[in-house]
Amino acid sequence: MADVVLQTEGGSGGIVIGDDWPGYSLELFSYPAHYAGDLQCVVVPHGVIMDRTERLARDIMDDLGEHDIVVLCVLKGGYQFCADLVDKIKALSCSSDRTIPMRVHFIRLKSYLNDQSTEDLHILGAEDLSFLAGKNVLIVEGIIGTGETLKALLKHVQAFQPKMIKVAGLLVKRVPRNTASLPDYVGFEIPDRFVVGYALDYNEYFRDLNHICVISDNGKMKYKI
Ligand code: HPA
Ligand code: MG
Repeated sequence: MADVVLQTEGGSGGIVIGDDWPGYSLELFSYPAHYAGDLQCVVVPHGVIMDRTERLARDIMDDLGEHDIVVLCVLKGGYQFCADLVDKIKALSCSSDRTIPMRVHFIRLKSYLNDQSTEDLHILGAEDLSFLAGKNVLIVEGIIGTGETLKALLKHVQAFQPKMIKVAGLLVKRVPRNTASLPDYVGFEIPDRFVVGYALDYNEYFRDLNHICVISDNGKMKYKI
C-alpha cells in the first residue's frame, strides 16, 4: 500500500480517508436504480461533499477576498464541484462584507480510458487564454490522480502570465508522487481506488450519481470500451 504522502500538518491536505476505510453500504443511501450492482460502496456522501465545499469556499474567501478571480473549471469531472464551490463563494459574498468578483471559464481535459490514465492529454478550450494575463486564477478540478495532468495544465496556464494561480481539488488520491503539483485547497484525500459520481465518470457513465462511490468489478465490465 502506498505511503501517506499528502497529509500535511494542520490537515490542509483535506479530510483524510484511510486505506482501511470500507466505505458506507449502498443500502444506507439512495442512488439511481440503473446503477444497482455497479457500485461497491459510498466513499463520500453528497451531503459531506457539500459541507466540505462550504468550508473550502470560506478558506478561498479568506485568502482571496477582494481580489477579482477567474475560475477555470476543468471539465468534465470538475463541473459539479466547480458549480457548487462557486455557489458557496457567491453565498458568502452576499452574506458578508467581503466579496469576490468572479468570472468563470471552462476548459476540457481528457486523459482516461476505462480506469487507466493515458499518455495523451488533450486540453480543449484553452488555446487562447491570453485574457488570463495579470489575473488571479483559481483552477477547479474534480480529482487529482498522479498530478501529471495538473502539472501539464499549470504549465499551460502559466504561459499566459496570470498574476497568481491557485488550485482547488475536491479529491486527491494518495499515490506515490515525485514532484507533481498538488492543490492549494483540497476537499478529501482518498485511497488509490477508482471512484465515480459527483461528475466523475467511468467512460462517461456515473456522472449522474450524487455520492462519490467506488465502482464494482461488475460496473467496470459493464461499461468497459
Ligand atoms: N475516477 C474518475 N476519474 C478519474 C479518477 C477516478 O478515480 N482518477 C483520475 N481521473
Ligand atoms: Mg473521466
